[in-house]
Parts: sequence; C-alpha cells; structure tokens
Amino acid sequence: MALRTRLARLDDGEQLLAWRNHASSREQSLNTHIISLETHLAWLAATLADPQALLLLAEYDSLPAGQLRLNREADQRYFLSWSIAPEHQGQGIGKTLLRAFCGATAMRLHARIKPTNPASQRIAEAAGFELSATDSGWDTWQRNPISQQAAYTSDPQTIVDNINSQGAPLNFL
Ligand SMILES: CC(C)(COP(=O)(O)OP(=O)(O)OC[C@H]1O[C@@H](n2cnc3c(N)ncnc32)[C@H](O)[C@@H]1OP(=O)(O)O)[C@@H](O)C(=O)NCCC(=O)NCCS
Repeated sequence: MALRTRLARLDDGEQLLAWRNHASSREQSLNTHIISLETHLAWLAATLADPQALLLLAEYDSLPAGQLRLNREADQRYFLSWSIAPEHQGQGIGKTLLRAFCGATAMRLHARIKPTNPASQRIAEAAGFELSATDSGWDTWQRNPISQQAAYTSDPQTIVDNINSQGAPLNFL
C-alpha cells in the first residue's frame, strides 16, 4: 500500500468536482456553494495552465485519494489547500500528504483554515505550520522552511518527484 502524487489532469475533473461538492469539503471552503461541472472544468483548465498554480492528485494504492493545490498570490505568498476523498478521511492520508509536500518544497507556505476544522489544524501542525493570524472567521497558518538551503524548485514535475522520492513516509501502512 503506498500513497503517491502526480500532476492533476483535465480528465480528473469529475473526480475533483465530486470531492469539491461533497458536504465535508463545502463546509470547510471559502465558497460553500455547489459548483457546476461546466464552471469547474473551466476553472480546472485555467488552473492547469496557470504557472502560478500547482494542482496535485494523491493516489492511494493507485486510486484517487485526495488533492493538494498550491497558489502563488500577488504578494508572492504561497497558499496551500487540500482535501481528502470522503471514503479515505481519517486514515492518516491528509497528514502524510501534507508532510510529504512540505518536506519536498522549500518555500514559505500559508494556509487558510476554519477554526472549526480540527483535523486540518492537526495536519498543518504536523507539517510544521503555526497559527499566524485570525481574520473574518478564518485562521491563517504559516510554515517557514526548515532550511533556506533546501533546494527550491518551481518545476511541477520536480516537486512531484521530490514528494514521491520520500518513499518511507509515504509507504505508511
Ligand atoms: C481535513 C482533512 C484534509 C484531514 O485529512 P484526513 O486524511 O482525513 O486526516 P488524517 O487522517 O491525516 O488525520 C489528521 C489528524 O486530525 C485528527 N482528526 C481527525 N478528525 C478530527 C476531529 N474531528 N477532531 C479532532 N481531530 C481530528 C486525527 O486524529 C489526526 O491527528 P493525529 O494524527 O495527531 O492523531 C480531510 O478530512 C478533509 O479533506 N476534509 C474535508 C475538506 C477539508 O476540510 N479540507 C481542508 C480545508 S483547510
């Protein structure tokens, strides 16, 4: 049993939308509305083409298990968001995935987490994030890189390879 990541593709659209529209995700999102397939596919195509965004799909035992998205915002801040497939929640996958991503990248990361989302708070803490601000009902968490000397790359496939090369922590079962 192993958890691996890969770059998301356009044909992941329906799977990603099913996760996005699931109640467990909507209640923890900025936008809690149901999103249509048409709107979602347009967003996905734009995200995949955006050099400021990185969308990864996590596969557990070769089946889709979650997603992780990195967005570089105007002020050069990197925001990370994530979700785990409803049938795989509570199995340690979110914690493993976030730690692996943080171990494979060397930029300062931010995440917005609702104060009512203890599971995301736990996995953020486990990946080295600290609560840095609270604003309008959202907490901002920040993770500083452990070493500035760690190799920084913005090449998506290199990031994926770095995550997957952390074999031991990913083979967690
Ligand atoms: C939040 C989410 C990403 C967590 O991922 P996960 O794979 O289910 O979480 P894990 O199994 O790795 O568990 C992470 C930690 O949270 C804890 N946890 C899980 N549910 C919890 C709860 N309701 N209350 C308190 N802690 C909880 C686990 O015990 C674990 O902590 P530990 O390892 O220190 O014991 C996932 O449940 C999810 O996608 N939820 C819906 C969408 C969402 O919330 N996205 C994130 C928006 S910021």
